[in-house]
Amino acid sequence: MVRGYLKETMNKVKEGKPMITEAQIRTELAKVFVPVVEQSVADLNLVRKIDITADNITITLASTALTPDVQNFVAAGVRSALQPLKTPVAVEFVEAKPQELNNIKNIIAVMSGKGGVGKSLVTALMAIALRRQGKNVGILDADITGGSIPRMFGISTRPYGSETGLLPVVSESGIEIMSMNLLLPQEETAVIWRAPMLSKAIQQFWTDVVWGKLDYLLIDLPPGTADAPLTVMQSIPIAGVIIVSTPQGLVEMIVKKAIDMAQKMEKPILGIVENMSYFQTPDTQKKYQLFGAGKGESLAKAANAPLLGQLPIDPELTRLCDNGDIEHYTDVSVASLGKALQTALETRNKSG
Ligand SMILES: Nc1ncnc2c1ncn2[C@@H]1O[C@H](COP(=O)(O)OP(=O)(O)OP(=O)(O)O)[C@@H](O)[C@H]1O
Ligand SMILES: [Mg+2]
Repeated sequence: MVRGYLKETMNKVKEGKPMITEAQIRTELAKVFVPVVEQSVADLNLVRKIDITADNITITLASTALTPDVQNFVAAGVRSALQPLKTPVAVEFVEAKPQELNNIKNIIAVMSGKGGVGKSLVTALMAIALRRQGKNVGILDADITGGSIPRMFGISTRPYGSETGLLPVVSESGIEIMSMNLLLPQEETAVIWRAPMLSKAIQQFWTDVVWGKLDYLLIDLPPGTADAPLTVMQSIPIAGVIIVSTPQGLVEMIVKKAIDMAQKMEKPILGIVENMSYFQTPDTQKKYQLFGAGKGESLAKAANAPLLGQLPIDPELTRLCDNGDIEHYTDVSVASLGKALQTALETRNKSG
């Protein structure tokens, strides 16, 4: 096999044709996009095999989530991208499970225990911060009955897919999103299911969605310490959790239950984010702690984790969430959230 390839290579060299490398082909394939989702075959990790001989190139792609029409479109895209190499190209498709294609470096769940403290907002801002750093990021909305992520990102596109899998919907800045809200006939439609069905839906967002290659997959959890967090902690290989809190004492008490749950489930707490910590007047810049002095530091201590950030109450943030423009939030607190998370992950990885 190797000898044959070497012989072909030498013949090519003799003929004066430059040898095509796999790296060269991968660079070209990164420019081939799957229609509708606007993600490349490389990002979705659909490239299964690349065969190069002296006379032709064969590209094997996973057909997962792609209908025959889309497969034809993608195959044509591959052939056209590789045309400059001046070698005949064959494109083949093989079946693969979404799980075989998913290659995700860090899976992080965002939880609180308490409702309405800003878990979805923190998930969104964290994803935006990481995306701005050039990372490949996805959000799995595990709040099946009350999903708010699509609304914050202004997304209502139905996810595209086939019997073999679903593709996430991609936001303006390139964040992959999967949410039950996107699968409902209307975003106001109620999902009235018992817990086992909800758990099944969360599991399917993990097993049946082609997330592809991601640096971060953030999981937005619903409030509470019951079924959804349990399903996520038991069936998805999360690297850790981020805990969201607000300064009120009552919230602190409930958030401590979430910390307790993560510790009992032996999931590392990567950090605490305190939301609605203060309000800063736009004219005098004076800060007011509307809900009292923050408990972020003491919660962080209790969780033996860093305080990743303290977010202000910002009417601009409310407006952007409501209008689906969260990706346009430019406050400095966003960038520092992303940096703090990365530092927390690095510290944890170093310590074992
Ligand atoms: N720091 C903030 N400044 C301004 N508005 C905020 C802030 N945090 C949250 N909000 C507003 O509160 C709304 C609810 O926040 P969010 O949906 O993130 O809470 P949640 O904890 O995910 O709620 P649930 O428990 O229902 O999942 C947001 O859509 C936003 O409008
Ligand atoms: Mg939420």
